[in-house]
Amino acid sequence: MLDGKRIILGISGGIAAYKAAILVRLLVKAGAEVRVVMTPFAKNFITPLTLSTLSKNSVLSEFYKADSGDWNSHVDLGLWADAFVIAPATANTMAKAAHAVADNLLITTYLSARCPVFFAPAMDLDMFRHPAVCHNIELLKSRGNHIIDAETGELASGLDGKGRMAEPETIVQTLSEFFNPKQTLNAKVLLTAGPTYEAIDPVRFIGNRSSGKMGYAIAEALAECGAHVTIVSGPVSVSVKNQKIKVIRVESAQEMFEASAKIFPNCDIAVFTAAVADYSPQFPANQKIKKSEQSLNLVLKKNPDIAAELGKLKSDTQISVGFALETENEIENAKSKISSKNFDFIVLNSLNDAGAGFGTDTNKVKIIDKHNTILDIELKSKQELAQDIVDVLCEHFNRQK
Ligand code: CTP
Repeated sequence: MLDGKRIILGISGGIAAYKAAILVRLLVKAGAEVRVVMTPFAKNFITPLTLSTLSKNSVLSEFYKADSGDWNSHVDLGLWADAFVIAPATANTMAKAAHAVADNLLITTYLSARCPVFFAPAMDLDMFRHPAVCHNIELLKSRGNHIIDAETGELASGLDGKGRMAEPETIVQTLSEFFNPKQTLNAKVLLTAGPTYEAIDPVRFIGNRSSGKMGYAIAEALAECGAHVTIVSGPVSVSVKNQKIKVIRVESAQEMFEASAKIFPNCDIAVFTAAVADYSPQFPANQKIKKSEQSLNLVLKKNPDIAAELGKLKSDTQISVGFALETENEIENAKSKISSKNFDFIVLNSLNDAGAGFGTDTNKVKIIDKHNTILDIELKSKQELAQDIVDVLCEHFNRQK
């Protein structure tokens, strides 16, 4: 999330300073290198030792080291950083920042910093809505500083209102979104997901172990980027969180094919994540089959290949993505599916990799495009992987537009 990012955490003197320990830990966990600068008063709320231990860097607070006379260079620190987060930002510190009152190292570092600056205000509710504070916040904003808005809730004074510092998780999330901006995808997307059930009789079916988790995670990530998503879904227990996603429920491959064929002509992107049964019983019984002979033969007929059939109708501007689960000759088989089904990309997962495939919450894949470029993605959660797949799609779609 913040891999290799160099972040200065400025801590000013408010009770929310106690949360700085968690903030440092989360920043370091997200991959950032953290250096802490604190106002002298902030040391009353949290010790430099706690912060230097967590950040693995010494904490700066004074202009110079009293014993050696060495100067702490706010200029070097300001130039070193990719981002400067001031959390908590008290009314006093924001006022000094807005008016260049450079009487401590935090403010001189702020005035020297060339990187983006984020203020996470924290104070009591009446202070927070005071016109002087509001004016300073507006002043800071108008100069391009980012404000991570305070939250509403119980305050240290015992009063209830707006003024609580944003939670450390929210601050890390804000930084992460700043450094990894989400792409937008103004597209209509058809996505097939889950297994199909092929009836043997009214109570039995041929199915498979697909959970639909990967497909639904991709649908969520697509919708998050602004795409209009319709899932044609086989029977699954997962459900959508984003209510803008339309879900059409089907059971058999034939039903999935018919529903998808109606949507496909009007979509910009089709993502075929469903584990469609290749065959179904040719003569499903109308009544429950009774046990009689020692063996039972079922005649199976081939189901429509949804991706291949729709691939034949695909226009030059439509993009389609397939999924393949292979156990041998993985890359060769995946590549041949790209051409036989007219895919632009195929996402290949291998059952040979631990943690990958059906039912698990993680997956490990390769994304292969029609020019045979292979992108190897390490084992990650299906949500994270969905985002990677959607990033590739966004890039391709937005480049093509
Ligand atoms: N697919 C489909 N309709 C089918 C079979 C597959 O839409 N009847 C889609 C899947 O959703 C997937 C891709 O085709 O995106 C490849 O699926 P896979 O099962 O690997 O391909 P098959 O053609 O069934 O090949 P195999 O013989 O390896 O099962």
